[in-house]
Amino acid sequence: SLDDHGRRVFDLTAQEGSLDLSEGTVDTWGFNGDYLGPTLRAERGEEVLIRYRNELGTASTVHWHGMHLPAAMDGGPHQMIEPGGTWEPTWTIDQPAATLWYHPHPHGETMDHVSRGLAGMFIVDDPAQQVELPSDYGVDDLPVIVTDPSSSRGEIEPSREFGDRVLVNGTEGPYAEVSTEVVRLRLLNGSPMRVYQFRLDDGSPLVQVASDGGLLPQTHEATSVRLSPGERAEVLVAMEPGETRTLRSIAPDLGQNFISERFSGGEDKFDVLQLRAADELAASPEVPVELAPDIVEHAGDPEAVDEAREFRLSGRQINGAQMRMGHADEVVTLGDTEVWEVVNNGGEFHSFHVHDVQFRVLTVDGREPPAELSGLKDTILTEEGVTYRLLMTFTDYADATVPYMYHCHLLRHEDQGMMGQFVVV
Ligand code: C2O
Ligand code: CU
Ligand code: CU
Repeated sequence: SLDDHGRRVFDLTAQEGSLDLSEGTVDTWGFNGDYLGPTLRAERGEEVLIRYRNELGTASTVHWHGMHLPAAMDGGPHQMIEPGGTWEPTWTIDQPAATLWYHPHPHGETMDHVSRGLAGMFIVDDPAQQVELPSDYGVDDLPVIVTDPSSSRGEIEPSREFGDRVLVNGTEGPYAEVSTEVVRLRLLNGSPMRVYQFRLDDGSPLVQVASDGGLLPQTHEATSVRLSPGERAEVLVAMEPGETRTLRSIAPDLGQNFISERFSGGEDKFDVLQLRAADELAASPEVPVELAPDIVEHAGDPEAVDEAREFRLSGRQINGAQMRMGHADEVVTLGDTEVWEVVNNGGEFHSFHVHDVQFRVLTVDGREPPAELSGLKDTILTEEGVTYRLLMTFTDYADATVPYMYHCHLLRHEDQGMMGQFVVV
């Protein structure tokens, strides 16, 4: 609803709940419910106001992952809300249409809070965007939040890195009834540590149309789509009348050796979501080839770079340091376009995430990025031994006292201190 200042208002309460799983009922946390949270949705240009309330027995936060907004509204570890407390962040949506999400970000406890169920989708629409895609929410445009909670004795075990089954939108063994020729899946990896490699059971293509920060320049037909924790992808699946298909996750290719892949959950395979087509399907818009050819301009001009920085990922450190509350590791000048060179030489993969901006991947080990990395991103799986050059521009919001974060989005690593802070001044 809109308030009398014309702001779009969302009420979000973090609370305790429970979830029925095959092994029994488990205690969970959720926003406005038992597990996960409502899909929030707003248009570019709109001012939003979130009325957050913490009804948990512990302090928490809520962070808007992928959102361009003032640091004081970002919901990082500097904006803790005590039990019984409230918080009312507000900002104006100003970025391309995208599938974003929200989750807590308490210092050292993000994995705990997210694993218990605190996460939800935040869809940004852009009325100026011309491409016609399936967009009837819940009919041919489906949120697919993938989590893998493990539980024992009626409780989620937030310290277990890999659950032994996956849920979609909090449902075990989920299926979707499809009534149109094409269905759009907004995939979000909301799991703390697990990487998924999504694929259809019959090997037919997933047509990727968007990545973290919005549409790809062009559609990309892939046999599989890999998402590390925090990443999103939108894919289109064409269905035949009466058929059933299953979206699976196969063993992901993590670009590392066999033993470490096993310990990264890399060998596991899951059925994720069954798609059941009706006997008659309504026509869908034709899948376009051109989507948003200019979208990467949002990240800045690669010929006009003001500053270059290096981020070395190794152990649980970035540039040899760990998260220190109250310390700005990097100082960025408002309006600057920067190249962040992320070098992973730490012997294992990491998922690198930057707050406030959407970046463009300029190169992967000196080469042009693959099609799935050709759009805007805020989180990227960095393979061991590989260097990524990311282009981004810091606009609109300066605050010398409140930092933004960059960190590994493998939540255990984040909690272990694999995180740094930057201020924009
Ligand atoms: Cu999804 Cu710093 O977070
Ligand atoms: Cu974030
Ligand atoms: Cu990591």
